[in-house]
Amino acid sequence: MNKTKILAISGSLRSNSTNTNILKNIGKIAAKDIDFEIFEGLEKFPHFNPGFDEDNIVVSDFRKKIQKSDAVIICTPEYAFGVPGVLKNALDWIVSTGELNDKPVAAISASPLNSGGDKALASLLLTLTALGTVKNEKSALSIPNIKQKLNTAGEITDESLQKSLTLLLENLIVLVHLKKE
Ligand SMILES: Cc1cc2nc3c(=O)[nH]c(=O)nc-3n(C[C@H](O)[C@H](O)[C@H](O)COP(=O)(O)O)c2cc1C
Repeated sequence: MNKTKILAISGSLRSNSTNTNILKNIGKIAAKDIDFEIFEGLEKFPHFNPGFDEDNIVVSDFRKKIQKSDAVIICTPEYAFGVPGVLKNALDWIVSTGELNDKPVAAISASPLNSGGDKALASLLLTLTALGTVKNEKSALSIPNIKQKLNTAGEITDESLQKSLTLLLENLIVLVHLKKE
């Protein structure tokens, strides 16, 4: 049987990003029959321009990676109450080509603040709806006070967060299997 392929995208370019570390932790939770890849290169995208129709290797690689994956997980910080520009820019590149259409997704926001980046998460979910993704009420998670839930190596020290991420991943796999039925 083919492995389930999950592409993970972090909205943060920062080294030792808490959001990227959450994705790395999900990669560890993922069972052996899951092929889990964290996308790299969000910073290399050109600015989105709907009039730009030349081939761009970074954009086409992103599109192909999404096309080949069974599901996508996005984990993002909130900047000034919104989704980071680099993440929104990348998502804008796949609006008209539709790689996320009908694709199961999970969306996470993490913040050192109490709010958990909930405004960025709400905005991201709207974008994911516009892109035609498959999700349900268990597909989103906002994580407050993230710095108290990871150790200096970026590993999760909070049991409840570990459980929530496991449930989020399990729900995503259910959505993948439902789609294949
Ligand atoms: C320019 C800027 C704006 C920010 N705005 C918000 C915000 O609106 N809400 C929030 O919860 N955190 C905000 N933060 C704090 C980020 O959540 C925090 O830096 C977080 O650790 C970034 O995620 P990362 O660790 O994955 O890089 C902001 C940080 C920066 C640098």
